[in-house]
Amino acid sequence: MTFKVLGVGSSLRESASSTTALSVALDFAKKQGAEIRLLDLKQTKLPLYDPTTNNSISEVKKVQDDVNWSDALILSTPDYHGSMSGAMKNFLDYFWAEFAGKTFGYICASHEKGLTAMDQMRTAVRQCYGWSIPYGVSVSDSDDFINGKITSKLESRLDMLARDLVVYGILIRQQFVTDLNGDSTNTFTSRYRK
Ligand SMILES: Cc1cc2nc3c(=O)[nH]c(=O)nc-3n(C[C@H](O)[C@H](O)[C@H](O)COP(=O)(O)O)c2cc1C
Repeated sequence: MTFKVLGVGSSLRESASSTTALSVALDFAKKQGAEIRLLDLKQTKLPLYDPTTNNSISEVKKVQDDVNWSDALILSTPDYHGSMSGAMKNFLDYFWAEFAGKTFGYICASHEKGLTAMDQMRTAVRQCYGWSIPYGVSVSDSDDFINGKITSKLESRLDMLARDLVVYGILIRQQFVTDLNGDSTNTFTSRYRK
């Protein structure tokens, strides 16, 4: 079985630096042997999450299919007021159990490294029993791009993120599936048995 990595881009800007960096990270994940998908929330417009509505429109179904398909995710956002974009938060609101046992990597386009934005995504993921790579990749559109092309320094950081996500993500996913199919009740995974 191939390891499947879903990248989620959440800037609604044309040629967004966060989504450009995400595409490069996904290409590096492919080089590590992963299958990849890009979910660009600029193209796939999700309605505002409403827990009282069973939303069956095609955009919601597509996003649910992408998340269910994935073994690991890379979340990419612009820094808006020290936080993630509304599009990213809205995406996260749609899911809970689907994130358990999956590993997450983070990218943030920011003028200030985007640490608080990445921490907030990490908090949301932790609430859903997802696992996080302990560092994130900051993208500065003024320092990390020359004539619209990513510098080798940023490329190297994205390569490391993709490598670690695939290598550590496989270990976590395999153990989650083993625990899911096992009979131990003394593991958090037992809560996800049907
Ligand atoms: C509403 C809004 C709020 C922003 N807040 C911050 C901020 O708090 N800190 C920061 O460094 N940049 C902030 N920015 C700048 C963006 O994070 C920056 O331009 C980023 O590179 C955009 O990413 P993108 O190219 O992926 O859309 C803000 C931009 C907008 C539109």
